[in-house]
Amino acid sequence: MVKRFLAVGILCLSLTTLPSEADVTVNIHVDKPASKINRNIYGQFMEHLGRGIYEGIWVGENSEIPNTNGYRNDVLAALKELQVPLLRWPGGCFADEYHWQDGIGPKEERAKRVNTTWGGVIDDNRFGTHEFLDLAEMLNAEVYVNGNLGTGTPTEMAQWLEYMTSDSDSTLANQRRANGRDKPWRIDHFAIGNEAWGCGGNMTPEYYTDLYKHYATFAKTPHDNTPLFIASGGQNAQTDWTETLIKAKKTGVKMDAISHHYYTLPTGDWGKKGAALDFPESEWLSTMVNTVKIEKFLMDNIAIMDKYDPEAKVAFNVDEWGTWFDVSEGEPGFLYQQNSLRDAIVAAVNLNIFHKYAKRVQMSNIAQMINVLQAMILTDKEKMLLTPTYHVFKMHVPFQDASYLPLTLKNNGKYGEGENSVDKISASAAVTKTGEQWLTLVNLDPNKAETIRLDGKYQGVKGQILTDVKMDAHNTFDKPNNLAPRQFEVKASNDNFAFELPAKSVIVVKLNN
Ligand code: AHR
Repeated sequence: MVKRFLAVGILCLSLTTLPSEADVTVNIHVDKPASKINRNIYGQFMEHLGRGIYEGIWVGENSEIPNTNGYRNDVLAALKELQVPLLRWPGGCFADEYHWQDGIGPKEERAKRVNTTWGGVIDDNRFGTHEFLDLAEMLNAEVYVNGNLGTGTPTEMAQWLEYMTSDSDSTLANQRRANGRDKPWRIDHFAIGNEAWGCGGNMTPEYYTDLYKHYATFAKTPHDNTPLFIASGGQNAQTDWTETLIKAKKTGVKMDAISHHYYTLPTGDWGKKGAALDFPESEWLSTMVNTVKIEKFLMDNIAIMDKYDPEAKVAFNVDEWGTWFDVSEGEPGFLYQQNSLRDAIVAAVNLNIFHKYAKRVQMSNIAQMINVLQAMILTDKEKMLLTPTYHVFKMHVPFQDASYLPLTLKNNGKYGEGENSVDKISASAAVTKTGEQWLTLVNLDPNKAETIRLDGKYQGVKGQILTDVKMDAHNTFDKPNNLAPRQFEVKASNDNFAFELPAKSVIVVKLNN
């Protein structure tokens, strides 16, 4: 039986409506909790790239920007609110040119190197191993260090691990102590190279796999501080990297995860990717079409992993993803871009897909945390703003480590036509350790609201919504709160009830039953 519902007047967008058989109906299979949604799916990536680290988080102890031991206070506070579960560093492409010894010891004595990958600027290594690992500790985040396979040696990699993890009386452990850190840090994840098919060395899967085995053999750590080892895999629709690597796992090499990269370009063309703001609706649509392609890439790669690793011992991690637009301001090599409601929708859709494949996808790292690509935070010297993507991540905090609840969507229509179309509604649900049920719903259609009907016994839903009338609604340093989440609450008077999901919106709500 379907009854009227009562929309609490906090958000006038949740209009009262009478449910009908034609509504998009959500049926959550609460009796079938599946895989845990590893909180590391909400992981962040920070590279020595543009203002991602310098200015973005690290300003130094003597900066006029208020800071704690060199980390800017405003950004630190925002990241704490986000409950960042994991940080990946130092790259990216940069990782394969990074020599860790450059970034330890007295700052004024550290090597100055040309960042040949990103803008050709001098990196004076003020931010190095200690600064990164201390930041992760301050945020209570797991650590993901990306080792240098491209221009480093197995010795250099092994010694970096020893420097970070050894509690012994070795010269490297004592060097760490002399540099101010007595106890070893915990290293949770360690990757051997990055994008070996491209900036990491233009290798074939077979050549990289042999090198992976070689480096991994010598990447030794104390038995009680052993990271999960990550092999750098393919990108986009590629599956040959996954297949070659997972077969190698059979030889007994240590390998806990294979990583994969996929970026959403509005046009799909690296030569002219599309603008971050002020774009036509055709590019809203193509951005959505390109984003959801990741589901097929995951399915194809996971099918291969299932064949060789049916027990799912090796994870499939998407350790770089997000939007990549044409650079509109600043040095082109710095990859600074604005972030709008469209990015928020892209983020929410990706997160829903990662939830669905949580059995294999144990980690994802949006690129990148601050001032680079699809950032959480943008800064302009002493100013800071939170992007729409930040808000989506924060709204989703209850999903971290919750158990995925399968759901079915009936009557989900299409936005667009034929191959150039996407499902209008993207959704996922989860149950937390304390038994709370959460639902996230995304309306990809920028023009039309959708009535959502929930099957089951619910008293109502309560949470937040992010939406706007403009497709490229965004925050600026003058108007940092132009686009922010608002409270969303609907009270039901009976079992089945419905509410309106506005065009181009994301809601994350707790189900009250
Ligand atoms: O995130 C920017 C770059 O994109 C990374 O350095 C690289 O791994 C990828 O190509």
